[in-house]
Amino acid sequence: MSKQHDKGTALITGASSGIGATYAERLAQRGYDLLLVARDLQRLEALGGRLAQENGVKVEVLRADLTDRADLLALEQRLRGDAAISLLVNNAGVAMNGSLAEADLDKVEQLIQLNVVALTRLSAAAAANFGAAGRGAIINLASVVALAPEMFNAVYSASKAYVLSLTQTLHGELAKLGVQLQAVLPGVTRTEIWERSGMDATQLPPEMIMEVGEMVDASLAGFDQGELVTMPSLPDAADWQALVGARDKLGPNLSRSSAAARYK
Ligand SMILES: NC(=O)c1ccc[n+]([C@@H]2O[C@H](COP(=O)([O-])OP(=O)(O)OC[C@H]3O[C@@H](n4cnc5c(N)ncnc54)[C@H](OP(=O)(O)O)[C@@H]3O)[C@@H](O)[C@H]2O)c1
Repeated sequence: MSKQHDKGTALITGASSGIGATYAERLAQRGYDLLLVARDLQRLEALGGRLAQENGVKVEVLRADLTDRADLLALEQRLRGDAAISLLVNNAGVAMNGSLAEADLDKVEQLIQLNVVALTRLSAAAAANFGAAGRGAIINLASVVALAPEMFNAVYSASKAYVLSLTQTLHGELAKLGVQLQAVLPGVTRTEIWERSGMDATQLPPEMIMEVGEMVDASLAGFDQGELVTMPSLPDAADWQALVGARDKLGPNLSRSSAAARYK
């Protein structure tokens, strides 16, 4: 029999492996009930069964391919109407490798469907649900390549820049309603994503690779501190603040009635 919890339910997409599975474990330990979503039902059931038993929380698993419109709309509807859900972890994502000119464009479209379209629809549903209730939180998994697009694949980096931007704007819309937003920007983290997208993380310098437990624990520490943007490995938070400050300095000059002198 599960205990009574007041944290509500955390909906985690891509919970069958890697970062999502680790969020599931840590959030169960914090007393959240769980709604775990991915395509691999067997893995979800194995994880969910263990976490329910170890932590005395309720765990529901849901098989959904979030690139499939019917599956996505069903989950979106559930999220929009379920008052028990108090936290959305928008984590499901895929990566890819290589140049855009040589890319398989069907794979590109699938990436955008998952990393951008699904994340957007689920963010919107959570925003409506949590905003009306005046509580709740959305954690969106971006990546450090949102800030370093030259380092990696164009479409993946652009999808993560989208996630960062969306989260920053949503924060402006939802903070005043009592909803917490966080964009998490991991660096290289040891998960299956590398081999799934045809890359070999073992070729990278070991000092660049973080273990997944450490990454998620740091992100949850940032969440507890109310950070809007969390970069787990960035030693000095002032470096991020300096970038925000430089951006703010551009603000008053981004839209003016006349062109800059150098263009005349
Ligand atoms: N690992 C890194 O270095 C790193 C760095 C920065 C950001 N990230 C981001 O962190 C997030 C999690 O990645 P990860 O490293 O944990 O990768 P992962 O181990 O490959 O996990 C990806 C998860 O997404 C699910 N998924 C994939 N396609 C799906 C679909 N069509 N519908 C529903 N679920 C789907 C997978 O489950 P099924 O296969 O069972 O569906 C799996 O649970 C991603 O958004 C990724 O971009 C990762």
